[in-house]
Amino acid sequence: MSGTVMIPGSPSHRSAQRPGVRGDIIAAGRGLAFGGLMLAGLGLLLVPVIALILVGLGAGVVIDATALPGIQRAVLGLLLILTGLLMGRLLMLGVLLAVRRLAILTRRLAREWCGVPIAEAYLPPPGIGIVSGTGNGKLSFQQRLWWLVSDPATWRDLLWATMNAVVGWILALLPAMLVGVGLIGFIAPTLRHVIEIPPPAFPGNSPPVLILIGAAFVTLGLAAAPWLLRAYGGFAGAMLGPPGQAELALRVRHLAQTRAETLDSGAAEIRRIERDLHDGAQARLVAMGMALSAADELLDANPAAARALLTEARDASAKALAELRALVRGVHPPVLADRGLAAAIQALALDSRLKVDVLGSLPGRPQPPVESAAYFAVCELLANVSKHAGARQAWIDMRYEHGLLRVDVADDGHGGADPAAGTGLHGIERRLAAFDGILALNSPPGGPTVVTMEIPCALSSPKTSSC
Ligand SMILES: Nc1ncnc2c1ncn2[C@@H]1O[C@H](COP(=O)(O)OP(=O)(O)O)[C@@H](O)[C@H]1O
Ligand SMILES: [Mg+2]
Repeated sequence: MSGTVMIPGSPSHRSAQRPGVRGDIIAAGRGLAFGGLMLAGLGLLLVPVIALILVGLGAGVVIDATALPGIQRAVLGLLLILTGLLMGRLLMLGVLLAVRRLAILTRRLAREWCGVPIAEAYLPPPGIGIVSGTGNGKLSFQQRLWWLVSDPATWRDLLWATMNAVVGWILALLPAMLVGVGLIGFIAPTLRHVIEIPPPAFPGNSPPVLILIGAAFVTLGLAAAPWLLRAYGGFAGAMLGPPGQAELALRVRHLAQTRAETLDSGAAEIRRIERDLHDGAQARLVAMGMALSAADELLDANPAAARALLTEARDASAKALAELRALVRGVHPPVLADRGLAAAIQALALDSRLKVDVLGSLPGRPQPPVESAAYFAVCELLANVSKHAGARQAWIDMRYEHGLLRVDVADDGHGGADPAAGTGLHGIERRLAAFDGILALNSPPGGPTVVTMEIPCALSSPKTSSC
């Protein structure tokens, strides 16, 4: 993928707060952007309002005694009602979808800019088993409208858009407006010589006073910007976050989905092991048994042939052993079981054909299933670097912070990784999802590629671990 796989809470989405005036200017700009979204939401809300007004007007015209004769009044009134209803019906779907997109964008920006993660709890479209924000699947107009209208999250979005149209002026737009007014204070005295602007009428008004007032407005706007931006993030979190029950329902859906995927991949893994055992070690052991029986029969009559058969049997046993070892390594590598994730990743790096630098360390050991998921994810990512990246070097950085195991795998290759083009990255994502872990991919064309995984987990204390 040429961008970033969007995974909630991914590290690339942490808010970057820059201190100083630059940070204040950025905060004011972000507030302005939120204000723009607010105005877009306001525009969308006008559609149902206008539709309602038309219906109301139509009803009023029908009932009311205007100067028009009866039949004309009825026709005009019905026309107005029909236009209102049609407008409501035809535009409603678009409006609801657009408000939802605005809400989704605002959640994302609140996470990136304000550091406020806001969960999404939309109902999946009917007949589709995944949570999907905007449901672009093949649903009829009616189905899509019903799907949206019957989702409580839609009504929460609409309530947010309404409240936002009031609150957004203060929390989002105020800093930029103060700065704008302040700048006019600076510019106005200059402009007055170019175009005729009547000076504002207040006592003591003079260019230096105007500049002073302008400077005060700009300073106030910039100083308030980071605070108001954070407050806006809090407001968006309170309005757009799912209430407890919806969050629980979302969690249940997520768990049901990841459980099904885990069971599927577990079954697939068992089938793979069965096939490998059947075609590999089992076949060799059968051949070995036959060679030994034949050698037994030939031992007296033809000792030379019997010796050749024994050599063959020994080779078969060595091969069977090697295959069993490889199989065990693929299921649960001994180095991982014995010495833990950090050491197993070091061993992987040493075995790799590429130059791989391993940085960081872990202060203890995660639970074996987490270790195993992280280990096989790193295996797949390193294999990807070797197979696809055209890289000279790779880096693995692992650390444990705030209850999160975090591993970055980066390479200096040509980038352009696309999860849709294969199964490996999706496989990792599914495997990590079973532990509420996430995978973030950043691989612009031209490189470099950085893949980050984060898994919430506890570490056993280093004293009790064997690593
Ligand atoms: N590190 C990387 N650098 C460049 N391209 C990559 C990298 N990793 C993956 N890709 C691209 O993304 C695709 C998807 O990767 P993956 O899901 O692992 O599938 P697979 O390895 O089975 O092809 C790959 O086919 C490859 O084209
Ligand atoms: Mg792969």
